[in-house]
Amino acid sequence: MTESTVPILDILLALLFPLLIVLVGRRFLPPFPWSDVRQLLTGFRISTSHPFSLTRAYSSYLKYGLLSKQEAAAMERSYVSIGRAHKHLGFKIGYPRKLNRFKEAIDRNTATATAIAALAAQEFSLEDTPCETNQTDLGRVRESLKHFVRDWSEEGARERDKIFRPILRVLEQVPVSERAGMRVLVPGSGLGRLAWEISQLGFITKAVEFSYFMTLAMRFLFSPDTTTKANQHHIQPFAHWFSHQRSNEALFRTVAAPDVVPRFSSRLELIEDDFLKLRHPTRDATSSTDSSASSGPGYDFIVTLFFVDTSINIFSTIEKIYYLLRPGGVWINLGPLLWPGSAQAKAELSLDEVMHLVQEIGFSVCPSGGTDEVRAPQTVECEYTSDKNAMMRWIYRAEFWVATKEP
Ligand SMILES: C[S@@+](CC[C@H](N)C(=O)[O-])C[C@H]1O[C@@H](n2cnc3c(N)ncnc32)[C@H](O)[C@@H]1O
Repeated sequence: MTESTVPILDILLALLFPLLIVLVGRRFLPPFPWSDVRQLLTGFRISTSHPFSLTRAYSSYLKYGLLSKQEAAAMERSYVSIGRAHKHLGFKIGYPRKLNRFKEAIDRNTATATAIAALAAQEFSLEDTPCETNQTDLGRVRESLKHFVRDWSEEGARERDKIFRPILRVLEQVPVSERAGMRVLVPGSGLGRLAWEISQLGFITKAVEFSYFMTLAMRFLFSPDTTTKANQHHIQPFAHWFSHQRSNEALFRTVAAPDVVPRFSSRLELIEDDFLKLRHPTRDATSSTDSSASSGPGYDFIVTLFFVDTSINIFSTIEKIYYLLRPGGVWINLGPLLWPGSAQAKAELSLDEVMHLVQEIGFSVCPSGGTDEVRAPQTVECEYTSDKNAMMRWIYRAEFWVATKEP
């Protein structure tokens, strides 16, 4: 054996061992994508395997323009495959121009998406090259653009009013002088408008959200580095869905956001984590609330809006809400029961079953027909990131209830 072959042999042997581990792993462990293996070998700092992870969301915002242009190119390819006569008709009704307007809309949205990614890179010191993204990730970015409308546009005021009003009325029952000592948790806070509204009433509010697709957009709207005035950002959030549109003006309309300039403050904190991992807020952990009007550890209110049905395990979710409330604390819920599909949810309960479970876990639900009309259960007809101009409306008959953790 020559001297030069020895190091080569060493290198091959050194590579063999990790390769064996990977191959054995793929044989005996549940399936995992090769991108995860690559990520392991290249030493990515943050796991991209979680569908809502920071790296994945950051990369998706960064690549929104690229992925969307691919979508536009596919639509163009589909269109040009029709025959000459139909192309002529298409030209007459202006369809090629429509496809161009779609690309212009993508450019406009890309400005916002790229700025969201840039702020994330700055705030989290992200140096990694973006990870792989796909059409599902693109869908999540597009979804968050529609949340700009729901949470932070004048156009969304109609949708918000229906769902926020019942919740805020309960919180407004608390005398103003007592609010600064009360803690409110908003799990699954999305782009944070409800949590912000609650903090504006004077409560110490924590918004909890585990999807960085949501929180990066929220940070962008709340940061003085990126948002300095009302209606500063202009997006075309409906441009991606050509179905159910009465006109191209409706499809490509521009929406400005935010309608008010929000900021984080001593009264409003964002927790970017899984709600199921939260622990009690103790008096030490929230020193500003030492003079609290509330008693004992735990939140005074937990507010869930379009949240409980996103649970993989509804039993854990309701138990966690119970655990996090102080004795006598109040849970306010408003939302539908749209369980995660494909048997992801451990149990898919009816409303009757949910209400039974709520009581079994130890809540007392405010009854209808009682003295407190504000807290009485009600069915609220409402929408979720709807397009008010579309030819199709999805109306939820969401359920509102107020439940107290027995002292
Ligand atoms: C249907 S959306 C509703 C968002 C917001 N409440 C609204 O009404 O616009 C549910 C949100 O809950 C978040 N979520 C679901 N499970 C969560 C958990 N265990 N911890 C934190 N956030 C969660 C999702 O990422 C999503 O943003």
